Amino acid sequence: MKCAIIMAGGKGTRMKATCPKVMCKVLFEPMISYVVDAVKEAGAEDICVIMGYKHEMLEEYLATKDEKIETVLQEPQLGTGHAVMQAQSFIDRHLDDDIIILNGDGPLIDAETINKAFDYHKENQNSITLISAIVDDTNGIGHIQRDENGKLLRIIEHKDANEEEKKINESNAGFYWFNGRDLSYALSKITNNNAQNEYYITDSLEILISAGKNAGAYVVENNEVTFGANDRKQLNNLNNIMRRNINDKHMINGVDIPCTDGVMIGKNVKIGSSTVILPNTIILGDTVIGENCTIGPNTYIDNGKIGDDVILDNCKILDSEIESGVDAGPFVKVRANSILKKGVHIGNFVEVKNSVIGEGTKSAHLTYIGDSDVGADVNFGCGTVTCNYDGKNKTRCKVGDGAFIGCNTNLIAPVEVGEKAYIAAGSTITDNIPEDALAVARARQVIKENWVNIKKPYKEKK
Ligand code: UD1
Ligand code: CA
Repeated sequence: MKCAIIMAGGKGTRMKATCPKVMCKVLFEPMISYVVDAVKEAGAEDICVIMGYKHEMLEEYLATKDEKIETVLQEPQLGTGHAVMQAQSFIDRHLDDDIIILNGDGPLIDAETINKAFDYHKENQNSITLISAIVDDTNGIGHIQRDENGKLLRIIEHKDANEEEKKINESNAGFYWFNGRDLSYALSKITNNNAQNEYYITDSLEILISAGKNAGAYVVENNEVTFGANDRKQLNNLNNIMRRNINDKHMINGVDIPCTDGVMIGKNVKIGSSTVILPNTIILGDTVIGENCTIGPNTYIDNGKIGDDVILDNCKILDSEIESGVDAGPFVKVRANSILKKGVHIGNFVEVKNSVIGEGTKSAHLTYIGDSDVGADVNFGCGTVTCNYDGKNKTRCKVGDGAFIGCNTNLIAPVEVGEKAYIAAGSTITDNIPEDALAVARARQVIKENWVNIKKPYKEKK
């Protein structure tokens, strides 16, 4: 069986982060989440994560992601070899299994690469198989040294390398398949005799070769999958690569992205063909978007379920469902499990929260609909407010099919507006309105003739 140990204990000094380095985000998700997903997709059945700096944050995150993930604490953090040593009891349970060890800060690694390296590992009956890449920038890498016949010798960390060794451009990617028993043996032999006085997992290579074991390196075809992030500039680079890969995938699937500026799409998002994504649009979580929609510009969707032929112009959609044919925006916010049913029109400066809006209902401008159940074909006048909160409790408003809500109406919840009821503009509605009734709830207008000439309320013009 396949299992995985993910090293995630490092502080990431160069990242200057207030969280564990692996919690720094790529496309709004912690780097480690991609590594976990990749090993799971590759078939790892048992996963152990080594935590260190600010482990509480990491532990909490992993528990919400997958409660089956095992965690161990590395305290203090004395290097990657020391990190893996903390998982000894996990390894003891997997002595006859294949274990992949991964840097938690390499989110571009994918299941395909992991499994190609695995096949290579098994075909050659290796004790250890590295994943390596040929790189342009050799700064800071672990250099893979081979003899004149190309046979692996050892990994030399950049800080320990001499000028000649620093020129070696085959880089250790930080992902290694091990036979469980051989890993256990290698760990027992690793020392901290090096420039950083750290225990390096990379020393396993030389240790296992000296013990007469088979070792190999699977050289990746596209070295981007091995890129990691030690600082914010590298993190930005990872964001750009992942963003480009995801956008490209959608375009190949028929999504139209005429300009990718500011378009950031999370990896689990699904988008139908002929939908257009306009600049500065961020789409995250488990969002699903149908066909022939126009999303953006400047739209943010997190966990949205969007039908076909939907227009979202300058909208923020959070945890809500937008059915087919809805036209929303500009400057619309829909949140907290709301549903906009087919053909709803929501115009500028309208917020919908925890509400269901029935088919064909229109709210064209400046309105707040919160905690409400609204029927079909209702017309909301400009400036309608559902007053859903009395300072202690939130209660609901109900609006029947075909009702007409005049401009600047306040609906004081809990209250019900009957079907086809008609509310005069400027009303503050505190009592239920029967169907087909008119409700007027405002003071009657008073006219005082000639009042201005008598009172002279304005400043005299000089
Ligand atoms: C490591 C490799 C290097 C390789 C590079 C690829 C070693 C000694 N070097 O260097 O050969 O080219 O990755 O990116 O392994 N960690 C712990 N505990 C520790 C130290 C680190 O859990 O005590 C974790 C970190 O959180 C990180 C991973 O191990 O996820 C790698 O650590 P990092 O310090 O980034 O290693 P590199 O210097 O990049
Ligand atoms: Ca690193």
